[in-house]
Amino acid sequence: MVVEDKASNQLDLQKSTDHPLDPLTLEEIKKTATLVKTKANLGEHLLFETIMLKEPPKDVVLSFTPGDFISRNVFVVVLNYKEEKLYELEICLDSEEIIKSEHIPGVQPAFMFGDLEMDFGQWETKMKHDPRFVEALEKRGITDPDLVMIDPWPISNFGNKEEEGKRLAIGRCWVRREPGDNGYARPIEGLSPIFDLNKNVITEVQDFGVVPIPPEDGNYAAKYQTQFRTDLKPIEITQPEGPSFVVNGNEVKWQKWSLRIGYTKREGLVIHTIGYEDEGRVRPIIYRAALSEMVVPYGDPTNDHYKKQVFDAGEVGIGRCANSLELGCDCLGEIRYFDVALFDMRGDPTELKNAICMHEEDYGILWKHTDNKIGETETRRSRRLVISSIATVGNYEYGFFWYFYQDGGIDYEVKLTGIVNSSALPPGVKPKNGTLVAPQVVAHNHQHYFNVRLDMMVDGRENSVYEVDTVTDPISDENVHGNAFSIQKTLIENEKDGVRVVDPFSARYWSVTNHSSKNYMGEPVSYKIAPGENVLPFHHRDAVIMKRAAFMTGHVWVTPFNADEMYAAGNYPQQHAGGDGLPKWMSSNRDLKDQDVVVWYTFGHNHIPRLEDWPVMPVAYTGFSIKPSGFFDRNPALDVPPSGDHCCEC
Ligand code: CU
Repeated sequence: MVVEDKASNQLDLQKSTDHPLDPLTLEEIKKTATLVKTKANLGEHLLFETIMLKEPPKDVVLSFTPGDFISRNVFVVVLNYKEEKLYELEICLDSEEIIKSEHIPGVQPAFMFGDLEMDFGQWETKMKHDPRFVEALEKRGITDPDLVMIDPWPISNFGNKEEEGKRLAIGRCWVRREPGDNGYARPIEGLSPIFDLNKNVITEVQDFGVVPIPPEDGNYAAKYQTQFRTDLKPIEITQPEGPSFVVNGNEVKWQKWSLRIGYTKREGLVIHTIGYEDEGRVRPIIYRAALSEMVVPYGDPTNDHYKKQVFDAGEVGIGRCANSLELGCDCLGEIRYFDVALFDMRGDPTELKNAICMHEEDYGILWKHTDNKIGETETRRSRRLVISSIATVGNYEYGFFWYFYQDGGIDYEVKLTGIVNSSALPPGVKPKNGTLVAPQVVAHNHQHYFNVRLDMMVDGRENSVYEVDTVTDPISDENVHGNAFSIQKTLIENEKDGVRVVDPFSARYWSVTNHSSKNYMGEPVSYKIAPGENVLPFHHRDAVIMKRAAFMTGHVWVTPFNADEMYAAGNYPQQHAGGDGLPKWMSSNRDLKDQDVVVWYTFGHNHIPRLEDWPVMPVAYTGFSIKPSGFFDRNPALDVPPSGDHCCEC
């Protein structure tokens, strides 16, 4: 059921804030941009890369009680595209003062296309009609530039001196057979213009040679299907008494969980102040959780495909790519949507409707036991709270899903779908570094890496992280038969030891522990980070991407909290040579024992394309879990009631 009373049930973007962590409202975004334009003296030609809440210090947030004064500060990044200068600002919305304005040399902002008069659609049209580009199209028999699709990709950084200081992008090109079909079926191989994004011109039409356009359609849209299977019966999810969650502004309470929903243009979903009620009090677990960075490096060395390594959070802004979700398609059942307030590059506020979906799902069995001796069975059904958003980045879709369970567990899952990035090969040629998914269409081998920043707060701010392996005990007088195995816990004492990798053969996990809070057995309480699917990069250690996205090279990174350390590959990965972010911060080797620790979890999905991924990919799932491990004194879900008389011996 769609919630119809929008005024009371959707996130009210115009309302004044009632909590220090509430995302900026449309009004606040507008006011911020106006202050920058009128008071900052940075010139007229400003493009807004970032307008986001500067979150107050944790002390302020954690001691906040309703009715307290809320100071609203905003962090802004603007680019003067004429002067090619980037500035960071901090604005106080209460005093209307510019607290900070600083030129940041030598960095490039995330992607912005166009200028104050020209949005992306107009920009793409202009580029497609550049005479040099049209000439290159004609060499390939393409006479209508309007059927051409240009996806601008980051140019990376291979040390080319001519690129220094310029804001550049590479165009990857395809051509549709007709206006509504799948253009990705027809890659224009060998043609990749370079754009100067500050001047809005093509600086170079790279032409690596003509390759025939692949001959076949690759259509997936319903309008192109001639037949649908006919044996699918309706399925309906109903909750006659409504959902079990309670929403107050951005705060959500569900089944002993409490949390706050936030959102940024760069990270997308942000979940704040995650806690679980236990014996009448809410015990904190995570202060802030969000995707910190992601990168998709490709594995083909030909033409300029080796430059494909896009940071979809830091270079693109995964939050601004979010879809407006639709009931019955993206989400099924009793759905609560949240709108989000964003902004365009001119600083004008924009509203993205239904960007976040929240609902409950039945999740099979929560726990069960049959006592055969007395013939009694107890079964409880599991339910989970799902908070999600889905982003479209060029050819790919990424769904970001947080799941909260009644037993205190949390899962984070990314769903990958959309269309594999396609290139063309001449007839009869087989690719070494990819898969032919259709005649003359190759999808290159690649990987998707995600880093989630978990600002941990297990029963308080001072936590420590242990690596926990299961090991075989040596044969000894105590282990005569060699069957014994035990766990080996290693404290991660400082940042020198703060980069760890998964080891499925020792069933490795990481335990975030609070030494000052003890469980029923007298042991310090903890939550564990449990890996899911994972992988390491297959790029050579000297490859450029290994430095630019060093966060791929470890799975768990532990740092002490620092409000300025938010993004795993640094603040400005666009055209960055590498070395920023986690490796840079951790080089100071800070102490990690009993500190306010942040755990950065990286997980990679290795994508060797399959024929079945064409022309549109069935969802691939990847993620990890955060589970209580001696945090509760027993199974916290004993009090989940049986769902019917037949589920227990009631
Ligand atoms: Cu992929």
